[in-house]
Amino acid sequence: QGGGMMDGGMMGNDNGEVEDMKNDSLADGGTSLPIPPILKDENPDPGKAEFTLVAQKGSMEFIEGKPTDTFGYNGDYLGPVIRVKTGDDVSIKVKNEIDEATTVHWHGLEVDGDQDGGPHSGIQPGTTWNPQFKIEQNAATLWYHPHLLHETGEHVYKGLAGLFIIDDEDSDNLDLPNEYGVNDIPLIVQDKQLDENGQFTYDLSMHDVMMGLQGDTIMVNGAINPYVEVPKGKVRFRLLNGSNARIYQFQLSNNQKFYQIGTDGGLLEKPVEMDKLILSSAERAELIVDFSEYEEGETVELTDKGTSFMKFIVTGEEKGPNNVPSKLVDIPDPDETMAARTRKFVMSGMGRNVSINGKQMDMDRIDEQLKLHDTEIWEISNEGMGMMGNNMGMAHPFHGHGTQFLILDRDGNPPPPNERGWKDTILVAPGEKVRAIATFDHKGLFMYHCHILEHEDAGMMGQFNVE
Ligand code: C2O
Ligand code: CU
Ligand code: CU
Repeated sequence: QGGGMMDGGMMGNDNGEVEDMKNDSLADGGTSLPIPPILKDENPDPGKAEFTLVAQKGSMEFIEGKPTDTFGYNGDYLGPVIRVKTGDDVSIKVKNEIDEATTVHWHGLEVDGDQDGGPHSGIQPGTTWNPQFKIEQNAATLWYHPHLLHETGEHVYKGLAGLFIIDDEDSDNLDLPNEYGVNDIPLIVQDKQLDENGQFTYDLSMHDVMMGLQGDTIMVNGAINPYVEVPKGKVRFRLLNGSNARIYQFQLSNNQKFYQIGTDGGLLEKPVEMDKLILSSAERAELIVDFSEYEEGETVELTDKGTSFMKFIVTGEEKGPNNVPSKLVDIPDPDETMAARTRKFVMSGMGRNVSINGKQMDMDRIDEQLKLHDTEIWEISNEGMGMMGNNMGMAHPFHGHGTQFLILDRDGNPPPPNERGWKDTILVAPGEKVRAIATFDHKGLFMYHCHILEHEDAGMMGQFNVE
């Protein structure tokens, strides 16, 4: 695959590259990719984990000389990685030091409704919320973010988000790149709009209300156009689309193929070779990119629909496994006959009128009643703009709390290989109908919603109660 690498290679590893970055981005040039720290477990007991998370105000110089007012957890922007093991008893103290109420939701985590951090778990300024739960699911790359009614979009936009990684025996024993920050690298991708003073303004234009807020500046882990040095070998990326609304089409600048090894809720059964990856808001993917054929100093870029937004620089160091394991984990064959019922969710409308099943979010109304431990099929359809034609309108990423789904079919067809794993967020195209199956093993009140945060905040959300 040598030829294709010229693209990145020609950018060079000399000073020319730094110059180039100055010219084509808002960045002050050569920003090294920040790696979010792993949050300290304050409980020395194996099997127990205790963390402290502080939502706070901060300031970050994304653009030199123009500090941006931000929010962050335990820092100025974004948050540390909460890393736990299956079976752990976890306790997290979440302190709110911003001047407004917020919540912290563990996106993708299978816990009871009262620990889930949804809109009912508001944390008032100056107070602490202390959820406690046991990790009962397999290894996965999840995330956490605020979920206050009508405020989720703005709080996430200002920087409140972090990764929540679960390890288990399978993930420990598989021969996968696993040196955090070296060949196991988190990439939180977000698009932002900075005003002339370098501020994140969250005044929604009509276009933002319709499409969700989409910025012209892509940040990775809070840096604009960063580079990261990677060893000559196989490197794992834990990719989170932490954007409010944007749907990415990720590709390497030389069209090199990569493997997807994981979805929202864990590893796939086997690696799926692909050359592009579509990821909507809140979806995660674990990828392996093979840099072993690169020369020392050679570079390649990560692009969204052809636009580069970060760069990998290959070092001389050889590291990591030689092969990608051909078998990863067992994923059960989804069995429709296990389902107690099929429940329908119809997404429709546009702008402030977006709805699910014709309704907008009401905290005092429970939309769906489920029985604890039932397996259900959720049929999620996107009616687009209805009368104007089903295929008009926009794609909505549908997210359900408190469980992980397996996709049965998309318009009657089996899902693509890279979606044959655990999913908590499912992109549904205009006119499309997706059926997914899940078991609801946690009780309490949970949300389902579109994960375009401006749609969620406009009311494209409902509540289900499991008891
Ligand atoms: Cu990512 Cu209801 O959340
Ligand atoms: Cu969630
Ligand atoms: Cu939507």
